[in-house]
Amino acid sequence: MASNIQEIIDSIQHPDEAWTRDSYLKEGISAIEANELREKWLFHLSKDEIDLLSHAADNVLKQSEQYLETFLLSLAAVELETNKLLKDEGNSLVEKIRFISREKVLRGQGFAIIKRIPVELWHQAKVAAAYLILSRLVGPLRPQNKAGHTLGHVADLGLSSDNPNVRVYQTKERQTFHTDSSDIVGLLCIRPAKEGGISAVVSTPAIFERIKETRSDLLPSLLKPLAADRRGEIPPGGQPYFMIPVFSIYEGYLSCIYQRQYLDSSQRFPDAPRQTSVDVEALNYFDSLCNDPSMQFSMRLEPGDIQLLNNHSTLHDRSAFIDYPEPSLRRHLLRTWIAPEEGVRPLPPIFAQRYGTVEPGKRGGVGLVDQIPVAYWDLSPILQEVKLET
Ligand SMILES: [Fe+2]
Repeated sequence: MASNIQEIIDSIQHPDEAWTRDSYLKEGISAIEANELREKWLFHLSKDEIDLLSHAADNVLKQSEQYLETFLLSLAAVELETNKLLKDEGNSLVEKIRFISREKVLRGQGFAIIKRIPVELWHQAKVAAAYLILSRLVGPLRPQNKAGHTLGHVADLGLSSDNPNVRVYQTKERQTFHTDSSDIVGLLCIRPAKEGGISAVVSTPAIFERIKETRSDLLPSLLKPLAADRRGEIPPGGQPYFMIPVFSIYEGYLSCIYQRQYLDSSQRFPDAPRQTSVDVEALNYFDSLCNDPSMQFSMRLEPGDIQLLNNHSTLHDRSAFIDYPEPSLRRHLLRTWIAPEEGVRPLPPIFAQRYGTVEPGKRGGVGLVDQIPVAYWDLSPILQEVKLET
């Protein structure tokens, strides 16, 4: 290994806590280990906390004019209700969400599950309002597409990722291990699939450490910028692809940006730098470690479960799924991309290509500078947009 690469590796000063302290760094995270440590990642909201959230969500609906006709929630109302909760001293909902997001997701093992929002009891508009408020308690929300959607709908839209402008969360295909473009990604499960759709998480430092131990000759390919496809979400004046390393070590923090399909489809652009045969071997090895069951923690999200993941210190995957035939029973998750203002790690300037900026509270997301953020509580306007585009 070249000595400068060794110096880069040696510069890791802030290994992600729980993964290292609890031997995850070397062992990865198996389902057994994770299950033994449920108190570290599994949290419940009390009745009082649900009541607080319910009241705030009702207020958002009251302030969202004609939300039943337009499917739109007022983000100004979400902001107002979130601020009311934040100003309410000693509010246990705020304290709990702050503890989970800062101590477990941003600094700890990088993931947490919060059970369980009463999705069967509430109208879907109220579920969406409550989820926006909970996410906003973690930090500002970032847009997930060029239409400025701050509330994503993860469902099978009848699309295929063979189309290079389609993003994999819009399909029923397996996603493969990847990171999203934000500090934290949150998912709320409204309905799971009939079969499949299992969520799996691996630890970035565990993968890095395993490569260092077994194939350190491949690390240079994973520490140098590689071309990644933007899948049609191109910022003004930007290129359809960007250059980013898989692993970045910056101010002592190891962070990862990864989506294999987007690395590979960048090669459709003639001016994108080519992947060498060693690069391909390194990416294949990276994938094989992520796919090793002993490195993974798998979970099936049940209705009302919220999953929070740190994109810098974990990668996640979702297996392919089969839906019920009835549209009203199909798998449906709500997604938020969150940029906390406090407690986040510094990110290298090169991340600005993907994140817009590396400034905490404003980084991450995709989309345009001047877009107006919107939040649809229902899938139907999104299906309508898909129909218009195809
Ligand atoms: Fe994702």
